[in-house]
Amino acid sequence: MLSSEIQEVMRECGQLMLRADHANADVENKGRYNDLVTQYDKKIQDILKKRLLDIAPDAHFLGEEEDVHESIAKGRAFIVDPIDGTTNFVKDYKCSVISVAMTMDGEVTLGLVYNPYLDEMYTAQKGKGASCNGIPIHVSDHVLHEGIVLYGSASYYRELIDESFRLLRLCADEAMDIRRSGSAAWDLCTIAAGRAEMYFELRLQPWDFAAGSLIVTEAGGTVTCVDGSPIAVDQPCSILAKGTRVDDGFMRE
Ligand code: IPD
Ligand code: CA
Ligand code: CA
Repeated sequence: MLSSEIQEVMRECGQLMLRADHANADVENKGRYNDLVTQYDKKIQDILKKRLLDIAPDAHFLGEEEDVHESIAKGRAFIVDPIDGTTNFVKDYKCSVISVAMTMDGEVTLGLVYNPYLDEMYTAQKGKGASCNGIPIHVSDHVLHEGIVLYGSASYYRELIDESFRLLRLCADEAMDIRRSGSAAWDLCTIAAGRAEMYFELRLQPWDFAAGSLIVTEAGGTVTCVDGSPIAVDQPCSILAKGTRVDDGFMRE
């Protein structure tokens, strides 16, 4: 079965992350402020690309570390972030994940996120629910006053910092507390698992959110842009993910 074959490859790549030699990770800056890549991002993406295209040879491949980003608008495609949370990985902060989505004509049909540090494999299939290590998961049904807000600081886009922290300030008044993990895909899994109530970030790329967004919606949550409009996985956008009883209207007042 497709999902279990993909999971097997992701687990193997997770072992590479766990055994990484962080002192010799060949850290490079990709150009944008603090946007890092290591030899492990490249190696894991190469493995995923080869193995995923062995599984589905007809598919397009959109990987963060590719030089050219293929269109995923038509037919089957894989959208891959080999390490989501690269800054954490460089610091050996132990909060980074592997994210793989499969799409058909631009719609996500399968989403998988693996956290090797916790050995947690999140999976979702369109219309079939979401699970963590095979156990069904559901988003939180707490209101925000009883909840935690996760946020991404859009750290590669300095022009969004002021607005990110303005919104975060509003969240601080609405919620019990706030958190920043450093991995957007992990934040989405945290919402899907009902461990936090709302997550927002003002600019993400498709590989950051494609898999995690399906995991949230299949766990009963909602994923939109911050202005409430629908997301599209073939372009960068803002993301707001939430549980069933979160009123996010204050974000747009
Ligand atoms: C980043 C992480 C981070 C988020 C950034 C992403 P990367 O991905 O998900 O949490 O704030 O917007 O780009 O570069 O570590 O794969
Ligand atoms: Ca990412
Ligand atoms: Ca990445």
